[in-house]
Amino acid sequence: MSTRQARYEGKAKILYATDDPTVFISHFKDDATAFNAQKRGTILDKGHVNCAVSTRLFQWLEAHGIATHWIETISERDMRVRAVTIVPLEVVVRNRAAGSLCKQTGLPLGSELVPPLVEFYLKNDALGDPLLTPDRLRLLTVASEDQVQELRRLALAVNSLLLEFFRRCDILLVDFKLEFGLDPQQRLVLADEISPDTCRLWDCRVTDPCDRILDKDRFRQDLAQVEAAYQQVLDRVLAQSIER
Ligand code: C5P
Repeated sequence: MSTRQARYEGKAKILYATDDPTVFISHFKDDATAFNAQKRGTILDKGHVNCAVSTRLFQWLEAHGIATHWIETISERDMRVRAVTIVPLEVVVRNRAAGSLCKQTGLPLGSELVPPLVEFYLKNDALGDPLLTPDRLRLLTVASEDQVQELRRLALAVNSLLLEFFRRCDILLVDFKLEFGLDPQQRLVLADEISPDTCRLWDCRVTDPCDRILDKDRFRQDLAQVEAAYQQVLDRVLAQSIER
């Protein structure tokens, strides 16, 4: 990998160019960050787990009509993806209150959110990825009003499909973050990754509020068994077929 030209290096992944300008390689790293990179560390084998979990979830979504950037997974940590222009928005969907929503609103942890909450954050590390109001979204013009409507529709469709997939794994999908890109035809395509780094996942087989956490909150909160939790997600995800 190191001999290839990195096109972009993020906190958890490196994008490499290929001979085909329409295709990138997305390489998953073990590096972990939290709180806008104020906390840094390594989660052993995370790159492999997140690559495999994302692969299975992208396959599941594609099988149900959601366009993603995933083409094929070529090694434990590398997938070929369509080259898209990333929309600088992080789209968060929440089925239960957790994380920043609890901190900012006082809602109790785990409160059910019906309908699910869809939030847009500006993807900008230097600004700390601020939550956008509808008026700020219009002001910034990072996406047209039609695109914002389409992003909301896609995010809710992805949520319904992921809720069902994780339910079959005995896992509650609490919330997650999505990123989208535009393909050369200006169509919105799901990009980035879907993994224990980007989702909150609670084990339905466990009631203890700390023990049930199977995602990056274990790293954020300095809980033990981070690697084991990621591995548990991988095992259950791989045990599910992607048939309808
Ligand atoms: O921190 P917050 O509660 O807003 O996060 C909501 C969801 O989005 C969580 O699943 C978190 O892991 C994910 N997220 C992310 N990357 C970010 C911000 C949030 O994957 N930069």
